[in-house]
Amino acid sequence: MTTNQVILWKYKNTAVDEKYQPTRTFHFDNTSITIQQQKTDITIEKNTGNVVWDGAFILSDYILRNFDLTGKRVIELGAGTGLVGLAASSNGGITTVTDITNQVELLKTNINLNPHIKNINAEELLWGTNDTIGKYDYIFGSEILYLHDQHLNLIQTCKSLSTKNTVILMIYKHRGLGEEHFFEIAENEFQVDIIPKDEYHKEFQNSEYTIFQMYLK
Ligand SMILES: C[S@@+](CC[C@H](N)C(=O)[O-])C[C@H]1O[C@@H](n2cnc3c(N)ncnc32)[C@H](O)[C@@H]1O
Repeated sequence: MTTNQVILWKYKNTAVDEKYQPTRTFHFDNTSITIQQQKTDITIEKNTGNVVWDGAFILSDYILRNFDLTGKRVIELGAGTGLVGLAASSNGGITTVTDITNQVELLKTNINLNPHIKNINAEELLWGTNDTIGKYDYIFGSEILYLHDQHLNLIQTCKSLSTKNTVILMIYKHRGLGEEHFFEIAENEFQVDIIPKDEYHKEFQNSEYTIFQMYLK
């Protein structure tokens, strides 16, 4: 005997693939965020930040349901379109969304598309090259473990931006790109805790996504 469970979709409408739409609006319990995307060739080496990856939605949803960021200093690494950072600021964070130089214009566009969200700015931040950017209460990152040769730089950046009270929260999908290498290095200096899947958005509890939290040891 099989049982059928009905889950009303809020994010993934199986009849419509929104992934490459020019704009998308993401609905959360207390806010909606509109994101402009750019339809360009996307390869592992370039333009990956021009669309919203599912991880950004799942992480935003998790943050909005579990943290009060009022007055907290927040930074998003590899922000792409900026969805996670915008969600953080909608929840009271004072947020800097960061990415490589080419991505900063799209980040600014998306900040301007959401005037109801305050206290957010966009800056360039190349992993491994940011010794002077300051310390943050929260560091967020969605889908940024896909470049094996950047793991060391990324961990270096997390260290530079952290105090012993900083919470680092990231999401990744296991894509067979050597993601485990990141944890092998990170665990030398950070305590890493995996967030149980039953705490994720209902539509992604059976997915290959993993949210994890890290703190300096
Ligand atoms: C797969 S996209 C994820 C974008 C967004 N976080 C999301 O989940 O929708 C990876 C992002 O990491 C950025 N990135 C890649 N290498 C980087 C580096 N060395 N320094 C800073 N950002 C980098 C890319 O430009 C891109 O925006």
